Amino acid sequence: MNIGFLASHGGSNMQAIIDACKSGQLKATPAVVISNNGDSTTLARAKTEGIPRYYMSGKTHPGPGELDQAILDAFLRHSVDIVVLAGYMKKLGPKTLSRFQGKILNIHPALLPKFGGEGMYGMNVHKAVIAAGERESGVTIHLVDEQYDTGAIIAQARVPVMPDDTPETLAARVLEQEHLLYPETLQRIVIGELHLPS
Ligand code: GRF
Repeated sequence: MNIGFLASHGGSNMQAIIDACKSGQLKATPAVVISNNGDSTTLARAKTEGIPRYYMSGKTHPGPGELDQAILDAFLRHSVDIVVLAGYMKKLGPKTLSRFQGKILNIHPALLPKFGGEGMYGMNVHKAVIAAGERESGVTIHLVDEQYDTGAIIAQARVPVMPDDTPETLAARVLEQEHLLYPETLQRIVIGELHLPS
């Protein structure tokens, strides 16, 4: 299974998946990394790992549909089987969505359908969870569609919210689970334990 990554910032989830591929825990190949942020740690990580990498954004591909086509072409050129969003802050275009329908995953740092949607990213999510007085939070891996955080849920992990949690301490506890759940879920797909709709 060839993985195509889309990531905007740190790429720690991408790194966890790459590490699982290297250790053999995940029988897959990181095939290509695309970032909309030319200075991202994600692209630096891809360089270190020797994975083909591209900076593609509204700046490099300004015309309508141009960016969508470039992303799709890169995935096809690198024989991508599954697209993994790891902290990707942009919506995907219709061509990529339709060609890889049912084969695009995202990870969200809360228990969807709660605490998702537009504006619910980064610390905003953890602040909202704490403000709502939730006793637990967690991680959701879901399929990607045209909206934010609305696609079918395929895996979740739970973590407790402690009474003295700050958004930062909660985020760290959630991220630790993200790094376990993403590679584990991908491996369940590889061995056919989890079926993605075709
Ligand atoms: C993670 O918390 C993930 O749930 C969200 O964006 C963050 C990305 O972190 N979608 P990283 O770039 O993988 O470190």
